[in-house]
Order: sequence, then structure tokens, then C-alpha cells
Amino acid sequence: MNNTIQLLTITLLSFLLFSCGSSSSNKNSNSGTNNGEGGGNNPTRPNKSDIKIAIIGDQSISDNAHKLLKMIKNEGVELLLINGDFDYKNNPAAWKKMHDDILGSDFPIIAVAGNHDADDSWELWQEYQRITADWDANPNLSCSGTPGEESSCIYKGIKIVSVSPNQFDYEHVKYINKELDGDNGWKICAWHKNMTKMQTGNKLDEAGWGVYEACKEQGALITTAHEHAYARSYLFSDIEHQVIANNDPKTANLKRGETIVILSGLGGKSSRPLQRDDNWWAHRENANTGAVAGALICSFGKASNKADCYFKDITKGVVDAFTLTK
Ligand SMILES: [Fe+2]
Repeated sequence: MNNTIQLLTITLLSFLLFSCGSSSSNKNSNSGTNNGEGGGNNPTRPNKSDIKIAIIGDQSISDNAHKLLKMIKNEGVELLLINGDFDYKNNPAAWKKMHDDILGSDFPIIAVAGNHDADDSWELWQEYQRITADWDANPNLSCSGTPGEESSCIYKGIKIVSVSPNQFDYEHVKYINKELDGDNGWKICAWHKNMTKMQTGNKLDEAGWGVYEACKEQGALITTAHEHAYARSYLFSDIEHQVIANNDPKTANLKRGETIVILSGLGGKSSRPLQRDDNWWAHRENANTGAVAGALICSFGKASNKADCYFKDITKGVVDAFTLTK
């Protein structure tokens, strides 16, 4: 009898242990799956059909540059576009590490050369270029061309054409037309330098009007840096002669022949005072307005023809908001 009771007890305990172990194992397994799926549910992410891109330039590896990248991450940005002048210390490794540490080494980034990156020596530029080439190889990007000099990348259907006028010797206008002809999706042009009238400080005529006009003719959003300030123009039908097609301060309809110019050079290096008072800007941020460092962030509708954009400063918060349509 005792033996029978012992046998029954052992059988019952074994059953209970097995059941608990199995249940616990299933729970862990399910939990793992849920975590995997939930990893993409960042609460700050925009609507899933939107593609959130941040555009900056003139970074440095200062505290403000770090703060800005953290802000960009917290905003749920999924692609970063850097329009030149990277770390100002000729230190490609430190510049890359800053992005790896804050955004993660697999974060999609497109970077194009500025004068501080490519003027000093060919060897130094090649170090930067190796980093930009690695970034271009991100599995979420499809890039062609020469990284950091003249390249074209597609991210979830958005075409980003990066060029380097007055830095490297290319036929950029031809390239822009080749890459953007027939593309009816969202298009972004990116480079570092300016024309004097397309910035708010003391920068000289360097980029030439050709790249501006070519991107406008293709209906691409034009983004630059170099001057350490932010400025957003009204809709231009002629950029070289500053002909404004529409001065609606909050919306702009981009189409072939009409676009806006964005100067986004508050990446963390410094904020410079306003030096010009041109009337084609819908919004300006600089040292006079108390801007410190910030990014233009746009949520491009994948299914819709609308993009919601804002410029957010690390201390002032959102200081400009507008809508693009196409
Ligand atoms: Fe520059």
C-alpha cells in the first residue's frame, strides 16, 4: 500500500513539474516572439505608412551634437541625412562612434562631403568615405554612385540624390537629371555649400545655380548646410532669380518646376547670427532667435502625397512646422 502511495505521489509530482516546466518554457518562447514583434512599436514612431527622415549638417562631436542625435532618435526618425561638415576634428573614427553609440551601428545614414571633411587631405577624405560607403551598404538602402561625393540612394521608395558642388569635380546637373527623370515619388536633393542668397550668413556663391535649378526642375526638395543656421524658403519657380510661386507660409506643393530650399546647418557645431534680410524665407532660425542645434524632420506619406515637416531645436523645441504636398 505504502509503495502504491509513493508511486502515485512521484507520478503526480513528475506530472506537475513537467507541466510547470513546459508552461514556463512556452511562456518564455512566446514572450521572445512578442518582444521581437514589439521592438518596432516605438511610441514616438509616426503612422506606419509614413517615413520619418531627419536632415542636418555642420555637426561636430560636441555635447550639442550628441544631444541632437539623441533627440533625433527619440523622435522616431528612421533615416538620417547629413549634409556635410562632420566632426571638425579630422577624426572619422570618433564621428562614426558618436552615431554608433547613439543611433546604433545599423541605423541608415546618408552623408555627403563638406569642406571640413574633404579640404584637408585626400587620405582623410578617404577615411570618411569608407564610413559613408559602409552606411550606403545598409540593407535598408539601395545606393549607387560614389559615396559622399555623388550618389543616389532609395529608402522605401524615397530617392535621395547627394552631390558635392564646389568640392569634387562632377557633372552634377547631368547626374541629377539622370537620377530623377521619370521618378514620381518623393525626391530629396542634398549638398553642403550654398549660393549667398540661399543662406542667411556670410557664405559666398559657391554651389552654383545649376544644381538648385536642376533639382527644382525635377520637383525635388532641396536641402543644404554650410551656414550654421536654419532657413526654409517659400515655393520657388525660379531659384536663381528668386521668383516665388506661392508665399503660403505653411504649405508648399512640390512639382516639376517648383520647390523649396532648406538650409539645415544647426547640427551642433554652432549657431550663427542673421546677416541678411531676404524676403523669400518662410522661416529662419539662428543665433538671433536663440536656436542652438536642431534638425529638420519630415514624415513622408508613403501612400499619400503629403509630408509633415518640422524643425526641432534641442532647447527651443519645435520652432517651425509645415506641410509638403506633391
Ligand atoms: Fe562648410
